[in-house]
Amino acid sequence: MKVLIVGGGGREHALAWKCAQEARVSRVFVAPGNAGTALEPKVENVDIAAEDIEALLGFAHQTGIALTIVGPEGPLVAGIVDRFNAAGLRCFGPNRAAAQLEGSKAHAKDFLKRHRIPTASYATFTRANFDPQYLRAQRLPLVIKADGLAAGKGVIICETHDQAIAASRGMLEGDFGAAGETIVVEEFLAGEEVSFIVIAHERQVLPLATSQDHKRRDDGDRGPNTGGMGAYSPAPLVTASTHARIMADVIEPTLSGLAADGIAYTGFLYAGLMIGADGTPNVLEFNCRFGDPETQPIMMRLRSDLTTLCEAALDGRLDRCEAAWDARAALGVVMAAGGYPESYRKGEPISGLEAAARLPGKVFHAGTQLTGGNVVTSGGRVLCAVGLGVDVRSAQRQAYDLVAAIHWNLVQYRRDIGWRAIAREA
Ligand SMILES: Nc1ncnc2c1ncn2[C@@H]1O[C@H](COP(=O)(O)OP(=O)(O)O)[C@@H](O)[C@H]1O
Ligand SMILES: [Mg+2]
Repeated sequence: MKVLIVGGGGREHALAWKCAQEARVSRVFVAPGNAGTALEPKVENVDIAAEDIEALLGFAHQTGIALTIVGPEGPLVAGIVDRFNAAGLRCFGPNRAAAQLEGSKAHAKDFLKRHRIPTASYATFTRANFDPQYLRAQRLPLVIKADGLAAGKGVIICETHDQAIAASRGMLEGDFGAAGETIVVEEFLAGEEVSFIVIAHERQVLPLATSQDHKRRDDGDRGPNTGGMGAYSPAPLVTASTHARIMADVIEPTLSGLAADGIAYTGFLYAGLMIGADGTPNVLEFNCRFGDPETQPIMMRLRSDLTTLCEAALDGRLDRCEAAWDARAALGVVMAAGGYPESYRKGEPISGLEAAARLPGKVFHAGTQLTGGNVVTSGGRVLCAVGLGVDVRSAQRQAYDLVAAIHWNLVQYRRDIGWRAIAREA
């Protein structure tokens, strides 16, 4: 079968790499892909943007694509699955209505409240009804969120009421464009975050391996928020009893709530959770797709065919499926361009990729491009070096051996990815 992966980041390289290893897959196309997918055996890039749904549909038709897997949220929220299904093509991901769980944070909060799924208390405002007095009456810190898609930049944690009011006004007055026309003002939750990702088909669910990522740019989880500077799987924080609690208190009520609301959800469903000191899981947000960089370590550990799991979900056979996992831990370190997440340079030649390819582990590409046979940087997050090991500590060692082999001008990366898990192991 021929598979199409939509997107061009590290997540999509990992999905394409995984699908390409499967005996039932003859060829994998990635639109638009990156230098990593261009160089991967059995994988080919297609020069179509992830948001160009009509062109993707035309390509899938002409090429006889049996299964399309959508990486990023943009095309899902824009309705790529509805469009492919209407044309009789199989496309893995939630439809437009289901993707609103990610597309609108206000919608997601109302959904959580309606179905009594644990989440921070909140209120939503527009310019028309913004009430600074409500904010002044709340405990600090306060979390202000733009409702719509903001590429991971639309959340501000405020330490004072004045700051919270200013952040709210900024959003409502257009700092995040249309994404900030509605805002969510949320109670701050203390605890440790985990990424809990499942494959869902209506009421059927297959939980994937647990993971944790590091959102902040600097060591010690300090500095500005980013798309993610590293991730590992499994997350030792999610013990068997916490896992059972997440399934019973979050995932199952979410799927039954969707069904009760008349929404048929098929696809990856990612719950960003804050785990309290007593193990209570609270939902911070939903994503309607796989995480990046969580995908990279999780795909390193997945033994089952990903395409088989996606097809089982599309066919409503997910309840008869199990996923097999490598018992080892996987840990990915993101190598980013200097200056990221603010402004950074593109076009820097990357050295050491051949040497890294001879080492154990795997380097997934994100913001890279092939120019005249050379791999150069083309984005903020450039590579994700993933190691495997008997525990998170040894997976970390393998990942940093890969990192040490690679260089470019002004490369930056964290040196402590996995520190919480390693502290737990010690
Ligand atoms: N209620 C909250 N309490 C504490 N931290 C929060 C809260 N909501 C969000 N955060 C922090 O902000 C980050 C981004 O928020 P999230 O809702 O995941 O939005 P997005 O991923 O779209 O930026 C989270 O990963 C978490 O670190
Ligand atoms: Mg998030």
